Amino acid sequence: MDKVSVELGQRSYEIKIDSGLLDQAGKFLKELGFSGKVVILTNPLVESLYCDTLHRSLSQSGFECYRVIMPDGEQYKTYDWACSILTELLKRRLDRKSCVVALGGGVIGDMAGFVSSIYMRGISFVQAPTTLLAQVDSSVGGKTGVNHLLGKNMIGTFYQPRLVLADTFALKTLAPREFLCGMAEVIKYGIISDSSFFDFLEAEKNRILSFDEQALSYIIKKSCEIKADVVSKDEHESGLREILNFGHTVGHALETETGYLKYLHGEGVAIGMCIESKIAHLMGLLDAGQLRRIEALISSYGLPVSLPEGISLPNLIQHMQLDKKTVSGSVKFILPESIGKVRIETGISEDIIMRSFK
Ligand SMILES: NC(=O)c1ccc[n+]([C@@H]2O[C@H](COP(=O)([O-])OP(=O)(O)OC[C@H]3O[C@@H](n4cnc5c(N)ncnc54)[C@H](O)[C@@H]3O)[C@@H](O)[C@H]2O)c1
Ligand SMILES: [Zn+2]
Repeated sequence: MDKVSVELGQRSYEIKIDSGLLDQAGKFLKELGFSGKVVILTNPLVESLYCDTLHRSLSQSGFECYRVIMPDGEQYKTYDWACSILTELLKRRLDRKSCVVALGGGVIGDMAGFVSSIYMRGISFVQAPTTLLAQVDSSVGGKTGVNHLLGKNMIGTFYQPRLVLADTFALKTLAPREFLCGMAEVIKYGIISDSSFFDFLEAEKNRILSFDEQALSYIIKKSCEIKADVVSKDEHESGLREILNFGHTVGHALETETGYLKYLHGEGVAIGMCIESKIAHLMGLLDAGQLRRIEALISSYGLPVSLPEGISLPNLIQHMQLDKKTVSGSVKFILPESIGKVRIETGISEDIIMRSFK
């Protein structure tokens, strides 16, 4: 089993990575001192695939286990659904020894973290991420939240899980497009902080895409190590943590402009990473060879690398200016200086941004 620890003083926790962890969840929760009631939050699809395994393991370890099911989809990551889930927790009288387990992708993880953070001023929760994106990104770091009509992830908290169980066995049933979206975030880690990890992703593409257990565990572990390191140095995103947003300035704008219909998040980030790398190149930070390697790697994983025909470039710029991470109208970019090293830049001319779109 691979393990990564997220060092946050008293709120430190472990990420366990292996095939078959859901079978052993009961034992791990007991080791953490939980007893009594556990609520599994999941959706109908993931419930049908993995909930019996998890439920059995928890029951065998003596937990009184309940399931709370919310519908599948980003459109249900809302405050209204959070309230319904809180009602379910109250009805089952969860107390301070109880815990909530998030079984699913990032939507379930964000929701479970959010409700756990406000139920009786905070109840423990455990992440059992079942998508690649959730295993390498959303389950780690303690950002929780729900969407609002006026913006994605606008209502939320920082609240760390007590444990992350990344069961690689679950990835086998993931839709290929969802898997590749997780790969976009994996590639991001290589570009922002580890050139030898980037080399590995280039060299071992075939093993990764054929779900080789060892290769998968390795990329998840490496990604979690990088994220854990950044988060432990800057939990509340007052500086360094912003580097995790590489590719997201343009990616979010593109998702917004296309109404969240055309692209999944990882696809927007893939295009965003290419464009932001091009901005770095146009500014003289990143050389042409490294830019080509970045584009080639992203493309080799079957991810998009350029903007779609007919997209409004002025609209994209406007979305960036309205983004919640933009401070007083000055758009922030995370730009690679080389593969494995990025810097944070603001005040980039509109001319350079427009040229990078072409
Ligand atoms: N908190 C954070 O730091 C953070 C970071 C990145 C993303 N996010 C959030 O994560 C969400 C996206 O997460 P996601 O990409 O995991 O999407 P998701 O949770 O919607 O899951 C994608 C789809 O895969 C299905 N699924 C999940 N596990 C499966 C499995 N093992 N086999 C088959 N199907 C499975 C889900 O039911 C869903 O239909 C967004 O809401 C985003 O805002 C949060
Ligand atoms: Zn992302």
